[in-house]
Amino acid sequence: MTNVSIRTLILELVTAQGASHIRELHVEVLKARPDTPEHTIRARLSEAAAEGLLNRLGEGFYDMYAEDEGMTSVVSYPNRGSCWGRSSFRGNCSGHLFKNLVLRYKARSVADPMLGSGTTRDVVAGLNKYKKANISFWGSDLSQGFDLTKQDIPGKFDFCWIHAPYWNIIRYSSNSGDLSNCEGYEEFRKLLIVCLKRCYDALLPGGRLAVLIGDVRRRGKYTPIVKDVLTFPYGEIRSIIIKIQHNCVSDRKFYGKLEDPPIKHEYCVVFKKPKYELKVA
Ligand SMILES: C[S@@+](CC[C@H](N)C(=O)[O-])C[C@H]1O[C@@H](n2cnc3c(N)ncnc32)[C@H](O)[C@@H]1O
Repeated sequence: MTNVSIRTLILELVTAQGASHIRELHVEVLKARPDTPEHTIRARLSEAAAEGLLNRLGEGFYDMYAEDEGMTSVVSYPNRGSCWGRSSFRGNCSGHLFKNLVLRYKARSVADPMLGSGTTRDVVAGLNKYKKANISFWGSDLSQGFDLTKQDIPGKFDFCWIHAPYWNIIRYSSNSGDLSNCEGYEEFRKLLIVCLKRCYDALLPGGRLAVLIGDVRRRGKYTPIVKDVLTFPYGEIRSIIIKIQHNCVSDRKFYGKLEDPPIKHEYCVVFKKPKYELKVA
């Protein structure tokens, strides 16, 4: 054994209910050392927790797929969760808020029509793998040929997540259906509402629509995009969550002291479709 080199050690705890507490702990060690002190492994786990790979649950338990049951209307995730989506994709989001909402609402079927780098798809795959959650998922994006301004979402879902471009702050393509390709705000606003309505229509009765959106300030002019989400006339607003922004490209620029404080938050507005909708004859 002394010549064997171990790169990754996976510890998996499986209980009678399945893999229901810690699922996988990836601990990098350079050599097979049966006498590795416990504190070395704990130190590695603490690093993984600091990097957002795992949640520390206390009593030696770590789990990145646990629900944050203490979540409030203000959330902050300095570590986005590096195994979900791609951090190099401009405008990507952390998977933590999405995961917490899916678990909180006990969603069995989930859709994301603006998938980007696949953050939500990867969270659901992890929940299914490590929590045996058995959640069905549909996701697509304009870059995969699905245009939400023109096409309906195929199917009905408990939970729909939409993370649209924040107008043209990041241009994703020159496609005429791309919300980030709108020159004027009014054009963007109209397309955004069309997209939100398609998401709403794809909800099962009692389902939820979560809209992650941020405001924009360009050349000093502030555009409160959230205002047009809050006035979306379908369903009932159940939550307005303020999410602190981290790791933005603008964080790396130094602007000096600006006239107005820089935007460092975004919103997640959650709508609920009624269980029973009145049909007007
Ligand atoms: C903010 S990004 C989503 C990022 C994603 N949440 C992630 O973590 O990677 C917005 C996405 O909307 C897509 N998009 C823009 N207009 C669209 C449309 N009409 N239909 C579908 N997707 C669209 C863009 O291609 C882009 O990938």
